[in-house]
Amino acid sequence: MSITSKLPTVGLTIFTEMTDMANACGAINLSQGFPEFDPHPGLKDLVSKYIRDGHNQYAPMQGVLALRERIAEKARRLYGVDYDPATEITVTSGATEALFAAVAAVVHPGDEVIIVEPAYDCYIPMITLNGGRPVYTPLTYPSYRIDWDAFLRCITPRTRLAILNFPHNPSGAVLDARDLDALAEILRNTGVLILSDEVYEHIIFDGLTHHSLAGHPELRERSFIVSSFAKTYHTTGWKVGYCLAPRRLSAEFQKVHQYLVFSVNTPIQHAYAEFMQDQSHWAGLASFYQSRRDYFLNRLAGSRFRPLPCHGTFFQMLDYSAISDEPDVSFARRLTAGHGVAAIPPSVFYHDGEDNRVLRFCFAKKAATLAAAAERLCRIDPGA
Ligand SMILES: Cc1ncc(COP(=O)(O)O)c(C=O)c1O
Repeated sequence: MSITSKLPTVGLTIFTEMTDMANACGAINLSQGFPEFDPHPGLKDLVSKYIRDGHNQYAPMQGVLALRERIAEKARRLYGVDYDPATEITVTSGATEALFAAVAAVVHPGDEVIIVEPAYDCYIPMITLNGGRPVYTPLTYPSYRIDWDAFLRCITPRTRLAILNFPHNPSGAVLDARDLDALAEILRNTGVLILSDEVYEHIIFDGLTHHSLAGHPELRERSFIVSSFAKTYHTTGWKVGYCLAPRRLSAEFQKVHQYLVFSVNTPIQHAYAEFMQDQSHWAGLASFYQSRRDYFLNRLAGSRFRPLPCHGTFFQMLDYSAISDEPDVSFARRLTAGHGVAAIPPSVFYHDGEDNRVLRFCFAKKAATLAAAAERLCRIDPGA
């Protein structure tokens, strides 16, 4: 029997490849973006409590109401905006499901979708599976800022959606208020929608604040805002996220969501809802990760790797051009097998494999792990 693949060029993701290789070589794994920290004991106790108390059957399709109410409160407090828990908030199976549901809800065959590169790896397959055509615009290297003139040139009568992701994986770049105004001006007289992947909304450094598209009155009206509890509560394995969107967009979003998963893990939603009453858990996340970034960078001070600015997320880009001029994929493999540290080569985040001789390192790790990795990285000399 022969089947025609809908994703003929997709194979194992680089995250799986590097993690498998790290395990096989006994390397320190700073490649995949998962925290090496356990969730708060209070959150784990709440999950057990809600299971014991009998919250084990299907949740409402949109999500447990108490959780949607806490999410609405957070959006109001952080971004000064009201999303109606009844009609404008959907709890999803991680940010990944929310991203897929948003694309599937609005992208028709032949529609163009603007992607800002380097781009998190799931966006392109989601677009092509729904018959859309990705159109690429670059972040300017090495500042990783959006070139708004280039972005404007991507808009055509067929443009349906633009996907943004700030704080940005893999570069750690963030948006400022002028970026939002520039985007609003470009889209003002168009029907272009926005999918804003803000899973790192609480992880932003150096006194900067996250400029959510939710907080911009004009952009909010055309945006799906996606976030995730995974990064916020060290619970990447629980796969719960959410989508905020105006009523009209949420209605279309929920049509897809209800046939993708119908609803999401019930006891975990109740647990998050109760845990979110204490806002200090997410409010302290920025300083928690900033201290890890600074620790990692201090330990790397004597190395030949050159750090690029990182203002958010838990990823640090390191330029290795003083060590080697080989392509990032082969350098990443050699770093794992030969020097015992696994990282992600960002060329895989570009459709044309753009390669700036940098690697992405995840610093959501314990001090001992970061110290051991930095020690190995400091030992690497040119040509090694
Ligand atoms: C930019 C970005 N979007 C989405 C996700 C997926 O989030 P979730 O695990 O909640 O599906 C990740 C996870 O690494 C990510 O980095």
